[in-house]
Amino acid sequence: MAKYERHVFVCTNRREPGSPRPSCNADGKAELHKQIKQAADAAGLKDRVRINTSGCMDQCEHGPTVVVYPDAVWYGHVTAEDVAELVQSHLVEGRPVERLVLADACIHTVACEHRPAKG
Ligand code: FES
Ligand SMILES: [Zn+2]
Repeated sequence: MAKYERHVFVCTNRREPGSPRPSCNADGKAELHKQIKQAADAAGLKDRVRINTSGCMDQCEHGPTVVVYPDAVWYGHVTAEDVAELVQSHLVEGRPVERLVLADACIHTVACEHRPAKG
């Protein structure tokens, strides 16, 4: 089998209620991962794109978080309603869904206004 063209990482981290930071998979069902995997398989991408679960990617305030490599495109606030477009536009056609892409100022920077202040 050929190498995968892309890997999609879907954060399925779950924290206990009342934790200081939110989590992408608060109900523990990991539905978003299943939905993306099903849509990718239905689009015929099974042997070309791998849909992985992931632990926390430190983008919790922007979750649910999904990242696509090797493109290094970070998506935030992804919902079930976004799955069909994400799969068709990005994974089939190679066009990232700009409206879901996280701002550079948010990714791996303490300057992000959405993160809790470090105390
Ligand atoms: S819990 Fe998903 S990025 Fe942290
Ligand atoms: Zn932010």
